[in-house]
Amino acid sequence: MQGFDSGTVDAAVRQAQGLGLQRLDALLLLAEAMQRSRTWLISHGEHALTHSESSVALALFQQRAEGVPMAYLLGRREFHGLMLRVTPDVLDPRPDTETVVDWALEIMTSDFRGRAPLRLLDLGTGSGAIALALKAAFPTSEVHACDASAAALEVARGNASALGLPLTLHAGHWWDAVPGLRFDLAVGNPPYIREDDPHLAALVHEPLSALVAAEEGLADLGAIIRSAPAHLVPGAWLLLEHGHDQAPAVAARFESAGFVEIDHRRDLAGHTRCTGGRLPR
Ligand SMILES: C[S@@+](CC[C@H](N)C(=O)[O-])C[C@H]1O[C@@H](n2cnc3c(N)ncnc32)[C@H](O)[C@@H]1O
Repeated sequence: MQGFDSGTVDAAVRQAQGLGLQRLDALLLLAEAMQRSRTWLISHGEHALTHSESSVALALFQQRAEGVPMAYLLGRREFHGLMLRVTPDVLDPRPDTETVVDWALEIMTSDFRGRAPLRLLDLGTGSGAIALALKAAFPTSEVHACDASAAALEVARGNASALGLPLTLHAGHWWDAVPGLRFDLAVGNPPYIREDDPHLAALVHEPLSALVAAEEGLADLGAIIRSAPAHLVPGAWLLLEHGHDQAPAVAARFESAGFVEIDHRRDLAGHTRCTGGRLPR
C-alpha cells in the first residue's frame, strides 16, 4: 500500500477512513504521528505531511484497520481520570471497569467512613488501573495489587511510579500472591470470558490469559470467591466484575462462601456486570 507522501492532513484522514477507521481514531493517530494536537490538525487541513510523518501515520492506520486497540497504538489510556501507560502485555482498561471502582469508593465513603488506615487489594491488576484509581481517591490507604503476569506487574509498577501513587505489588496466583495478609476491601476484574465465546475473535490483540477462564468463564471468579474469607477481615467487602450473564452464578458462589449483603452494579450499558458481598462482622 502507498503512503500519502506530500499529502495533506485532510487527505490523510480521508485515506484512513477509506481503510475503515472512524474519523476520531484517524485524527488521534495522525496527531500521534505528527506530535500535534487534534485541534491543530482540524484547523490545518491543508498542511502537508513530511515523509516520516506520513509513513508513521500509515503504519498506525493499517494496524488500527487490523483491529489493534487504540490504547496499544497510542501507548496510553485514561482510566478514572488517570492517564495510564498501556502495552500489549496488559488488558486495555475498559470504561465499564470504572463501575467496580465507583462501587468501592462508595463503600469507602459510607461503610468505611472514618476508618483508617484501610488495606485494599486489586486482584489481577494488569496496568494497575483499579489499584491506582483507589489509591488516588484514598491516598492514606495501603493499596496492594497482584497479578500472575510478571510483564503486567512491570507495567503497573511504571504507572504507579509515573503517577506518584505507591502500590505494593505481588506476583502470583490470586490470594496465594498475598500470604499472611488480610484485607478490608478486595476488588477484581478477573478473566471471565468462555473459551468458546465468539467475541474472542475481536480480542486477538489482548493477552488471552487476561480474558479467558475455564468452566464457562467462571473458574477464576469461583476460585477467588471460595478462598476470599481466609484473606479478608470480618465485615470486609469483595467486589468483582464479570460477564453480562454471569451475575446469578457469581452471586450463588458468594452465598456459598458465606458472604452477606450480596448486591450488584450495572455497567454503562445497563448490564449487571459487578457482584459483591461482605463477610459477616
Ligand atoms: C481482565 S484483566 C484485568 C486487568 C485490570 N484489572 C483491568 O481491569 O484493566 C485480568 C488480569 O488478571 C490477571 N490474571 C489472570 N489469571 C490470574 C491468576 N491466576 N492470578 C493472578 N492474576 C491473574 C491477568 O494477567 C490480567 O492482568
